[in-house]
Amino acid sequence: MQAAKIRASGMFIAILGAFAYSVVAIAETTPQDASDYRKSVMTTLKGHIGASSMHVRGLVDGQEFLVKHATGLANGVSELERLFPAGSNVEGSDALPIIWEQPEQFAAAIEKAVAATRKFAEAAESGDKEAIAAAFRDVGGSCRGCHDTFRVPQD
Ligand code: HEC
Repeated sequence: MQAAKIRASGMFIAILGAFAYSVVAIAETTPQDASDYRKSVMTTLKGHIGASSMHVRGLVDGQEFLVKHATGLANGVSELERLFPAGSNVEGSDALPIIWEQPEQFAAAIEKAVAATRKFAEAAESGDKEAIAAAFRDVGGSCRGCHDTFRVPQD
């Protein structure tokens, strides 16, 4: 009992420590941090779209979880507009300069993804399979649409 209590309070202190550290880190986001963070958020999108795809194809059940993945996509995409601070196409980043050269075109690509993921989340809530499949195609199209123009072509 006592040992468990000590372990638990140790963990609490560790969490507090991590929190204090993160507050300090926020004040000094470097271009490298911005690039790493962007890739992390993009990776969450990849996870949610992969999981959603398995629901859409009927390979797994549990509509409430499709709703969660669709919502995860909408949440991640809602952050896109702040993921590309100027100067964050550091070495190793696949973000193309056109992002900063054509901000209106880039904003339109973001808006497309925001609208598509919002619609997909609504369709997932409704449970209407046809609406879900159509909205899912549009989500995929919005990812590809942006990548085709604004990301270094992948092999
Ligand atoms: C408005 C533009 C835009 C949209 C929309 C977009 N992406 Fe991206 N994505 C990018 C750019 C630019 C990069 C390259 C980022 C870098 O390397 O710094 C990227 C990178 C990625 C990566 C690679 C991350 C890594 O670790 O290198 C994945 C995976 C990804 N996107 C998935 C998605 C998915 C899935 C969607 C749709 C739900 C999506 N993206 C929507 C612009 C976009």
